[in-house]
Amino acid sequence: MTRKIKMPRAFSRLVAAAVAAQKSSYCPYSRFPVGAAVLTDSGRIYTGCNVENASYGLSICAERVAVCNAVARGRRALRAVCVVAGAARPCGACRQVLAEFSTKDTWLYLVDLDPATGRRTITRTTVFRMLPAAFDPVASGLLPPRPARRSR
Ligand code: THU
Repeated sequence: MTRKIKMPRAFSRLVAAAVAAQKSSYCPYSRFPVGAAVLTDSGRIYTGCNVENASYGLSICAERVAVCNAVARGRRALRAVCVVAGAARPCGACRQVLAEFSTKDTWLYLVDLDPATGRRTITRTTVFRMLPAAFDPVASGLLPPRPARRSR
């Protein structure tokens, strides 16, 4: 499903943004910092980190913070996503949220960062490869096909 790659030049900015975002993580409960960055159709990058809460269930994942940042800035089309963590694998909920704004071509870079050595292992896949049989708003009749889709 996934394959190991060398860091491609075109996306090194995205990886760097996610690595930087991980440093802002607020994770006093899990001590598992996660950083995320999304590259949108405008060429701009939006970032996020996980933000935990004393009421644990209120914690939010880095990926969803990054997506919300992009959408709040009016950018809804994701070209690529990057997640950085000790073991970077978006949770199921985040996969569905990423899918909402992704196409079949949206890349997903998973960066496993060993905090002890700084060693990075990067895997490249796609959002939809990580979410087989995704809940599909078009197939479900909840949204019209993309070209006819209204802006709201
Ligand atoms: N976490 C993320 O930020 N993204 C994921 O996809 C998986 C989990 C966070 C949530 C929580 O703050 C910590 O990692 C441990 O679960």
